[in-house]
Amino acid sequence: MVVALKDWSYVKVAGILACILMLVPSANAVDALKTCTCLLKECRIELAKCLSNPSCAANIACLQTCNNRPDETECQIKCGDLFENKVVDEFNECAVSRKKCVPTKSDVGDFPVPNPDVIVKSFNIADFDGKWFITSGLNPTFDTFDCQLHEFHIESNKLIGNLSWRINTPDAGFLTRTAVQRFVQDPSNPGIFYNHDNEYLNYQDDWFILSSKIENRADDYIFVYYRGRNDAWDGYGGAFVYTRSAVLPESIIPELEKAAKNVGRDFRQFIKTNNSCGPEPSLVERIEKKVEEGEETIVREVEELEEEVEKVGKTELNLFQKLTEGLKILQEDEENILRSLSKEEMEILDGLKMEAAEVEKLFGGSLPIRKLR
Ligand SMILES: *[C@@H]1O[C@H](CO)[C@@H](O)[C@H](O)[C@H]1NC(C)=O
Ligand SMILES: *[C@@H]1O[C@H](CO)[C@@H](O)[C@H](O)[C@H]1NC(C)=O
Repeated sequence: MVVALKDWSYVKVAGILACILMLVPSANAVDALKTCTCLLKECRIELAKCLSNPSCAANIACLQTCNNRPDETECQIKCGDLFENKVVDEFNECAVSRKKCVPTKSDVGDFPVPNPDVIVKSFNIADFDGKWFITSGLNPTFDTFDCQLHEFHIESNKLIGNLSWRINTPDAGFLTRTAVQRFVQDPSNPGIFYNHDNEYLNYQDDWFILSSKIENRADDYIFVYYRGRNDAWDGYGGAFVYTRSAVLPESIIPELEKAAKNVGRDFRQFIKTNNSCGPEPSLVERIEKKVEEGEETIVREVEELEEEVEKVGKTELNLFQKLTEGLKILQEDEENILRSLSKEEMEILDGLKMEAAEVEKLFGGSLPIRKLR
């Protein structure tokens, strides 16, 4: 479970682009416009950098495939897993945390704080020490990666986790990701650990230990339920089982079933993970190269698309003609939109038209993403 480093992709870059291009006004056109005006006003540099960075652009192309899918958020998170990138982090820092251009996905109550009765009454922080595998997980978006080996140690009374996991790539390869996370044990509730004070999107994860058994035996385990929030999403969560062995021991399943039931979950719906942690470094290198090729393929496809668009010649519109066209299409809904946009947002839109040349220049040098459909 490594939520914070993945959920940035929740950020609706796809929606933002749709907004910039004004191609398909959707039900949330108002939100898209608001986000768009905010980004163009507040995060121009970050946006331009993102659009001109191949990995960031590939990520955006990937996000486009998520639009209007029932699993849209999960799909976006998968894109983020694949195309993790510092440029996107900077963009998100501006768009989500600093300028709040993207509305927070609010807590829908899927992962409530558990009742104190169902959390273990005692837990020695030192028992976390050493290596643990995640062998079973509840939330496929966060908890069920291959090869999740987490190594813990205690430092000044804090729990430090060195986490590693694999992201499977579409070509059946994988990328290895790592992160270090810090937890503080609740002084009066030893079964609760807090991972707060994080800079990135100000994420906060709370862990609740539902049950555990630590007797220096092969079937030792820690069953963790967690919920978290960040600037983009309040109330994500999941649950997972740490075991010393790489495969979930059958012997602990009855205890896990009972503990899961206590938080309204059916342990039979948990997913066993694959910790066989396959191949050697040379293969890793090869696969990483494949992923780069994958990114190049996307860029190439975009370029081909661009050529097609160019063939159409005269009908090709520049950014602001598109914006204007888009606004025309939106006219039937205009009253609603005008009512929903604040005066300031209207002024920004107006101002943008006047600065068309400038902004066009900003995007003009960037990847052909602006011509993506
Ligand atoms: C975390 O673990 C990896 C691999 O096990 C190791 O290379 C790295 O140095 C560790 N990082 C920290 C901060 O302990
Ligand atoms: C588990 O992962 C390994 C690679 O680490 C792979 O070869 C194997 O097919 C996977 N097993 C399953 C059941 O998916």
